[in-house]
Amino acid sequence: MLTAAGSGSRLGHAVPKALVELAGVPLVVRAAQGLALARCLSAVVVTVPPLEVGGFQALFAGGLVPGSDLPATVVAGGATRQASVAAGIAALADDVDVVLVHDAARCLTPPGLVRAVEAAVRGGHRAVVPALAVTDTVKEVGEPDASGARPVRATLERTRLRAVQTPQGFDRALLAAAHAAGAALAADESVAASDDAGLVEALGEPVWVVPGDERAMKITTPRDLALAHILVEDIPPLLP
Ligand code: CTP
Ligand code: MG
Repeated sequence: MLTAAGSGSRLGHAVPKALVELAGVPLVVRAAQGLALARCLSAVVVTVPPLEVGGFQALFAGGLVPGSDLPATVVAGGATRQASVAAGIAALADDVDVVLVHDAARCLTPPGLVRAVEAAVRGGHRAVVPALAVTDTVKEVGEPDASGARPVRATLERTRLRAVQTPQGFDRALLAAAHAAGAALAADESVAASDDAGLVEALGEPVWVVPGDERAMKITTPRDLALAHILVEDIPPLLP
């Protein structure tokens, strides 16, 4: 599943973030190429802004990418990422037993990372996230005082922290159960889950970490897009 239904408010472009171009290719098309090249998927559901369904259907009319036989189903996403993934789960074919959920905004994710996550799920880990070690020192803070300054509550032990990426991989039944259990949170951005593994954790089920990849960075701000421009010059075109 490719989540592409966000507006990209922090990026600040007039078009939805997934349609913003990086060196002439929309982010969602680059992300789709990475999934196709992994050659371990049987179909892809793309969640898109509800007002843009027709435009995205045209983009994927010939399948996920030209020359691949991967069928693409475009579905209207929801108000939050969690709601969009729930809509995507509802559109999965009956025979699917492993689901990878991937952000279109992580458009330079290498196919090898997709394969590694898929292999970890097939190997028996029912919820798998790729992640990188954290380089910043991360502190927990409390409520601000009148000046706006916040008190530090704790310094988290950095060696125990990981910054998680996508694709996140799941046994289909576990992912569906996690979203069903967390459904009450899905409508409200302030409480909705920002990743699917969080919903699995809330069920009390184990989630496993495999090594992430710097190229799976998420494009959130204009600075991220500028960095992606630099990276893409170092990455050969994924498909002709
Ligand atoms: N996403 C989605 N449905 C939503 C919100 C987000 O499918 N309602 C997708 C985005 O398209 C993106 C991924 O989830 O590929 C990660 O979300 P994020 O980086 O937050 O993207 P946006 O929500 O579009 O950006 P912003 O929060 O800055 O508006
Ligand atoms: Mg968002």
